[in-house]
Amino acid sequence: MKHPIVVGLQYGDEGKGKITDILAQKADWVIRFNGGNNAGHTIKIGNQKIVTHSVPSGVLYPQAKNFIGAGCVVDPVALMKECEEIRASGVSLGPDRLKVDYRAHLTLPLHRALDRAREQTRQGVGTTQRGIGPTYVTKVDRLGIRVGDLWQESLQERLKALMEIYAEKDVEESAFTFDENWAALKVAQEGLKDFVSWELTPFYEAFQKQRCLLEGAQGVLLDIDHGIYPYVTSSCTLASSAAAGTPFPLSGLGPVLGVAKAYLTRVGQGPLKTELFDEVGERIRKKGGEFGATTGRPRRIGWLDLDELKMAVRLTDCTAVVLSKADVLVGESRVGVLHRGSLEFLPGWQDMWRVPGEKLSQELETFLQKIEAVLGIPVVAVGTGMDRKDLFWRQAQPACW
Ligand code: IMP
Repeated sequence: MKHPIVVGLQYGDEGKGKITDILAQKADWVIRFNGGNNAGHTIKIGNQKIVTHSVPSGVLYPQAKNFIGAGCVVDPVALMKECEEIRASGVSLGPDRLKVDYRAHLTLPLHRALDRAREQTRQGVGTTQRGIGPTYVTKVDRLGIRVGDLWQESLQERLKALMEIYAEKDVEESAFTFDENWAALKVAQEGLKDFVSWELTPFYEAFQKQRCLLEGAQGVLLDIDHGIYPYVTSSCTLASSAAAGTPFPLSGLGPVLGVAKAYLTRVGQGPLKTELFDEVGERIRKKGGEFGATTGRPRRIGWLDLDELKMAVRLTDCTAVVLSKADVLVGESRVGVLHRGSLEFLPGWQDMWRVPGEKLSQELETFLQKIEAVLGIPVVAVGTGMDRKDLFWRQAQPACW
């Protein structure tokens, strides 16, 4: 049995949560393999809106169990709060439905303070300031504290060593005290104890009989190795990381579904060749609700960059694209795409539909065919609105399992 991977093909916020949520209807497990609570997935069902950050997007289907893999980082205080908010919307989320790998590294107040301090210098890249980068730094430095370390006798000593080595003169002192960080570890000890997965290879057997869905966070262009460095996140966002970041048997992975937005958005610094600074950009930002789900920051807006998209498709080896938010561009007289370094304009669509629910408008079809011609793979589905039901499959929904 092969298990699908959903990844973002741009700078995050492509709408992966929605497609993961739809595929999760049939999943036994939904697995996150990278990143932490820098991610923000909004799932809208009728009038209800649920935002997840660290918890995988399978959370709304009672049969789907959710796994936070070894390649992720976990802010225990934020995770407890997120779980409480999800439970407050009537979703049951006990240890039977959520597991956190014992190898995932913990984000503590000191990591957040280091992130904030760095952002105030010229080396800042516009992070979400959730402490993600510093958590991966202490991991690679082999000084980090993992979920599974929470019950070790040496925990206090480990924390002291970490604080001593990472003490910086410009860091906020209040977030760098022993008490503040110890308090977070205590929250983690209590809150995570029933949720830890202690298995070395949790899916080695499960993947033969249970349906797993792997959910990437952020997007290919934010990958630490292959993204637009240094304006990247600190984890591996490519589909190939799903194996190492879970861990998941490599032979059980695929197909890769890439999610791209019909235009570009980006938060934080870094190049955005097609950026729109005019009223068109403003209109798209407002209509698309392009404000960060994690930080509330207004997202930068640009036309679709097909050159980058093609690179992303190749880097993550995806075989099909889901194009989200085509409805946001309804009413634009023309729609831009960057191709081979030049901005081209295609006629805009004034309506989503030629035949409601059955055929997309001719102009939108032309836009989709242009994307397919450049990428060489199909756009299998198109986002037609905010709601869970607003996804139009141009081709039969892939039989993933
Ligand atoms: P960090 O992941 O918080 O370190 O931020 C590094 C860069 O990745 C910044 O440009 C962030 O805005 C961006 N980023 C991180 N997570 C997301 C996300 O989920 N969506 C969009 N951008 C993100």
